[in-house]
Amino acid sequence: MKPIQVGLLGIGTVGSGVFNVLQRNQEEIRRRAGRGIEIACVADLDTARARAIVGEQARVVGDAREIIANPDIDIVVELIGGYGIARQLVLEAIAAGKHVVTANKALLAVHGTEIFKAAAEKGVVVAFEAAVAGGIPIIKALREGLSANQIQWIAGIINGTTNFILSEMRDKGLDFDVVLKEAQRLGYAEADPTFDIEGVDAAHKATIMSAIAFGIPVQFDKAHVEGITKLSAADIRYAEQLGYRIKLLGITKRTDKGVELRVHPSLVPAKRLIANVEGAMNAVVVHGDAVGTTLYYGKGAGSEPTASAVIADLVDITRLIEADPAHRVPPLAFQSHTLREAGQDLP
Ligand code: HSE
Repeated sequence: MKPIQVGLLGIGTVGSGVFNVLQRNQEEIRRRAGRGIEIACVADLDTARARAIVGEQARVVGDAREIIANPDIDIVVELIGGYGIARQLVLEAIAAGKHVVTANKALLAVHGTEIFKAAAEKGVVVAFEAAVAGGIPIIKALREGLSANQIQWIAGIINGTTNFILSEMRDKGLDFDVVLKEAQRLGYAEADPTFDIEGVDAAHKATIMSAIAFGIPVQFDKAHVEGITKLSAADIRYAEQLGYRIKLLGITKRTDKGVELRVHPSLVPAKRLIANVEGAMNAVVVHGDAVGTTLYYGKGAGSEPTASAVIADLVDITRLIEADPAHRVPPLAFQSHTLREAGQDLP
């Protein structure tokens, strides 16, 4: 049978990882998905760079709308990022009846309600495992593995760039700016690193987790957001002397008054597992009433770790398509009921 045809919108760090991993592990992936998955077409403004990555294996176009209009494409993978053109293209892809996979946390945290409503109406899936904590399957854990639980709270290191900066400043005594440049070189930082260092990226991810865990709409505007730019090397040193590490945590919590949603630098006792999460690694702690406390750890950024999550979504959607070739699959939307408004009781 013809492989599932995928169109990639954007082939930068993550897109090239998706292409390479799909090629390298194509047999395993085909076996697990029940059908082959093939990148048929790639759209990128830099067509020369895209051609250098995909060679003769996929068609390269300069206009993303060629992919959306192509009836042979089953799944559109959006890796452009940001809220602007990415939102437009995702909505157009949904309207064209394509399933969508996205790593775009900013888009979902701010426009998730609109996007999931459109997907539900059209009967297509919008999958987003790669949007939170890169290669760690935390969306699957919250949605599937912990589905028996009332989630009480989630606390996580969910931005690799800032964790890398804090770790390098502490271990090597390096300056903030030097480490930030290195994080950009390694492909961890966002195109606009302000989102990383001001806590916005972590807040996007915490917003998405909060919506899934507590069944509330995505409410990024209600999050309390504070980054690491005001921290000095001296703060990190003093914390160390007092037996703490400073970590930028994304926290969301069920309370009597509502759901808390916040990102800020936190003093974590140095003996805690999460205090010892170093470099660009991510870790998410989830507490459920039945399971107790669980910990998920892994690479939260970078080409192939993020590609791992994107491809897991492609495999999931392929299985759904295989189970029902008419493509009438249930959308993986957030739950529609509202528990409480987030942020009511923020300090
Ligand atoms: N800029 C993000 C980070 C990339 O540093 O974690 C992954 O979302």
